[in-house]
Amino acid sequence: MKATAIAPANIAFIKYWGKSDESLRLPLNDSLSMNLNNTYTKTTVEFSSDFSRDEILLANGIFSDQEKQRVIKNLNVMRNKAETRLCARVVTENTFPKGGGAAASASGFAALTVAAFSALGIKLSEKELTSFARMGSGSACRSIPDGFVEWKKGETHNASYAYSLYPHDYWDLRDILVIVDAGMKKVPTTEGMSAVRTSPLLPARLAALPERITRIKEAMKQKNFQQFGEIVEEECLDMHHVMQTQNPPLYYWNNVTQEIMDAVAGWRKNGLSVYFTIDAGPNVHLICEGKNEKNVIKVLKSRIRLCRKIIVNKPAKGARVL
Ligand code: DP6
Repeated sequence: MKATAIAPANIAFIKYWGKSDESLRLPLNDSLSMNLNNTYTKTTVEFSSDFSRDEILLANGIFSDQEKQRVIKNLNVMRNKAETRLCARVVTENTFPKGGGAAASASGFAALTVAAFSALGIKLSEKELTSFARMGSGSACRSIPDGFVEWKKGETHNASYAYSLYPHDYWDLRDILVIVDAGMKKVPTTEGMSAVRTSPLLPARLAALPERITRIKEAMKQKNFQQFGEIVEEECLDMHHVMQTQNPPLYYWNNVTQEIMDAVAGWRKNGLSVYFTIDAGPNVHLICEGKNEKNVIKVLKSRIRLCRKIIVNKPAKGARVL
């Protein structure tokens, strides 16, 4: 009873920040993302009556006890569904640093869910798999369907799921991920978003989102990159304003993050169509069309301080069994 799956990380264009139900990980709002082809997790899960306890291993790093417990909690949810008590051995490998805004929990729990159900011999629909991945980490549900994905918030476990809006080859976009800091983020997302209601800006954000989502979907439908990019930045700043006005405030950006944000505005003034988005860490995702990939890398490289490690991502397929 063994299976291996890979799952991409995803970058959210409309962000998930705040839950309506902590234990089911139901989000306060719908969100929208793109899977990334060069930042993924590969996970092998084996269930066996030979194992007397769960073993959770990270091939190229170390999981904390807290992280291991979270994986075991998710395994328990899947074991309940499969009506088994078999222990598991889980071996995971990331192609990128975890905890620095590159969404390792998304690819990690998506790969875990797909590998574990396959190892258990339980056939679920893609929609059901996304709901189970969500129980591990909310954004993980968006790493299962193909390409460009929407997560419907829902009010129940089954109604909170993700689906593919467009396949990965629909739009030739790039996410040039600038790794500003490869260390762990200061405050993990689960903890950070649990205080979202302390921000006085949250009601305005939630009220604005449905219309923003309609606008971004229209821009995607028309492949209007400028309109799309403007909404991506508007949304990123809106989420970070909420984070920064929580009690205690959360500042995920650092000086280099800020410098890149300023540089992007300058590059755009000079005619280069590129936009930024940032999750819960200092790393910056530069979003452009494929035809501008080389130009964006060139301007990045001309600014030594800004050009750390970069990972160039294209839109990717979702999670799958190998
Ligand atoms: C800022 O999915 O990591 O990246 O459900 O608590 O595990 P948990 O949160 P997580 O949150 C991701 C937050 C974000 C925005 C996003 O990806 O939508």
